[in-house]
Amino acid sequence: MTSATNVERRIFSGIQPTGNLTLGNYLGAIRNWVNLQGEYECIYCLVDLHAITLFQDPAELRRNTREVAAGLMACGIDPKANILFNQSQNQDHAELAWHFNCVARMGWLNRMTQFKEKAGKNRENASTGLFVYPNLMAADILVYKATHVPVGDDQKQHLELARDIAQKFNNDWDKPDFFPIIEPLILGAATRVMSLRDGSKKMSKSDPSDMSRINMTDSEDAIAQKIRKAKTDPDALPSEAEGLEGRAEAQNLVNIYAALRGVTVDAALGEIGGKQFSEFKPMLAEVAVTSLGPIGAEMQRLLQDPAEIDRVLNEGSERARALSQPILREVREIIGFVQG
Ligand code: TRP
Repeated sequence: MTSATNVERRIFSGIQPTGNLTLGNYLGAIRNWVNLQGEYECIYCLVDLHAITLFQDPAELRRNTREVAAGLMACGIDPKANILFNQSQNQDHAELAWHFNCVARMGWLNRMTQFKEKAGKNRENASTGLFVYPNLMAADILVYKATHVPVGDDQKQHLELARDIAQKFNNDWDKPDFFPIIEPLILGAATRVMSLRDGSKKMSKSDPSDMSRINMTDSEDAIAQKIRKAKTDPDALPSEAEGLEGRAEAQNLVNIYAALRGVTVDAALGEIGGKQFSEFKPMLAEVAVTSLGPIGAEMQRLLQDPAEIDRVLNEGSERARALSQPILREVREIIGFVQG
């Protein structure tokens, strides 16, 4: 039996409000989020509960939460047509995460490669929150019975775990269709953007060198300068994609160019193949400045009114709670809690 709270298509996705938003976040995720609006019912969440699995300075956390909210809106997320909020304002996530702590098995979490990477050699000193983080991620999605989740490659394993949790919950309490089977949405060209200083590393807000990334708040001059200084190799650009193999930096700059222009890598190379970097870099800078400049400016404008951003998030969290509460009520009943 399908419960009244099940819907056919509902998207949930999350982004951590830590550090600056970069071109990597934009081309890798946010642009896809923008395109999904209208096609699906979308719930977009600033996952501040996930952020504190590593210590966050309170003032910075608040600042970053507002900044990422402004970034999403500046990129075109419409908080009226969709739901945009920060996770900690809907406590239903945390409650369902607890139930999932009791459903997921140690063995499942022990297999999570991201925990191993993040905890590194210092595993004994990692927070227990970091270890059970995938259970919270499963709760984020399932507390709304979301059906589709746009994620990058690095989150696929967590999404599979969320499916396993949903299935075990449904089996253990004999409610076969209670939680839906979550489908990942791996969208066409989610571009993996690499560091401008080292083409083998992901562009990251935590890289110590600011020259390695383009921040969404960078001025037009800063964007142009970072592209001018980006690492390259001495050869001309090839005219076909195979020619980029083994040339990580060239590959990255061409990927960025193609993604910002909205064309395939082959089509981009059809235009720029044979050119030297000295000629290509100004073209790339021009495209980057024209597409990102207005977004950065809009972000700055929105950030001048933090109270308005807070109001948007607060309204989003009220709408989020309205969706999660009936689902969580059913969960409590299924588990067997006595409630008045
Ligand atoms: N773990 C994701 C990341 O670090 C963020 C996230 C949290 C998320 N909850 C989610 C993504 C639910 C998709 C769905 O990028």
